Amino acid sequence: MPYRQTIAAAYDAGVEEEYNRLTETPLREAEYQLIIELLDEYIPPGATVIDIGSGPGRYAEHLLERNCKVGVIDLSARSLKAFSDRMENSCCRKNIFFNQVSCATQLGWIADNSSDSVLLMGPLYHLINEEHRNQSLSHCHRILRPGGFLFAIFLSPFPVLRNITGSVTHTRFQGFDVPQFRCWPRESKRIMHSNFFETIRIRNLEGVGSFLPDASFEGTWPKQKKKELLDILHENCEKAGLLGITHQYICVARKPGKPEQRAD
Ligand SMILES: C[S@@+](CC[C@H](N)C(=O)[O-])C[C@H]1O[C@@H](n2cnc3c(N)ncnc32)[C@H](O)[C@@H]1O
Repeated sequence: MPYRQTIAAAYDAGVEEEYNRLTETPLREAEYQLIIELLDEYIPPGATVIDIGSGPGRYAEHLLERNCKVGVIDLSARSLKAFSDRMENSCCRKNIFFNQVSCATQLGWIADNSSDSVLLMGPLYHLINEEHRNQSLSHCHRILRPGGFLFAIFLSPFPVLRNITGSVTHTRFQGFDVPQFRCWPRESKRIMHSNFFETIRIRNLEGVGSFLPDASFEGTWPKQKKKELLDILHENCEKAGLLGITHQYICVARKPGKPEQRAD
């Protein structure tokens, strides 16, 4: 099956699982917090944001609540529908400027310099072909205004170090064999640089939490314990010597250039 069909079918089948993922365990809740914190730091209220690979749109929803104007894109039509259904009665709905099934490699329909920030939190690690990764990053660069920020998630080879040969692994998701591209942070910086982005932050999303067995996150965690976990992750998530010691990491990259003064 061509990769776009595989991704669309797998995530169409897994909409609920994907929506619930970020509240499922204390480690996933921490992932959400660590990402939200970065988004809030770099994306001011009122900014225009395009979320490529939005899934059911948890981050898009957060940005809408901060009064941003948001466009969402995904290969999974069911994920996008779940997002629009959820937003149906929300007063923020008017700020969704598109909700479009499309591939991250085929975004020629989006205007140049039209977005203050772009989220690419999913597609990059499902594009196992280098040319496709570069196509998607080239669109992100074109779409962003000078000085705009790209938030891209990468998968690390760390959890599969013993078994991985090359840079691609496969995971079983909703009965589909879903490919995953993995690379270390130094390689992600090289990828960003060769696509004319400047990497300004890298943050582990599980970090030291990836040393703990999955079973330790089961059951109900008291609020105080969740806070302690988040504090530990927070203290270590950007330590140079630990970057990549995680399942996933987020890279904040900037399109060089001076932000233009906006008329509106
Ligand atoms: C793991 S989910 C992440 C969803 C959300 N961005 C988040 O961080 O929670 C990955 C999403 O990326 C989408 N995706 C993967 N490859 C894509 C591509 N080439 N173009 C558009 N969307 C893609 C999938 O359909 C899925 O909804």
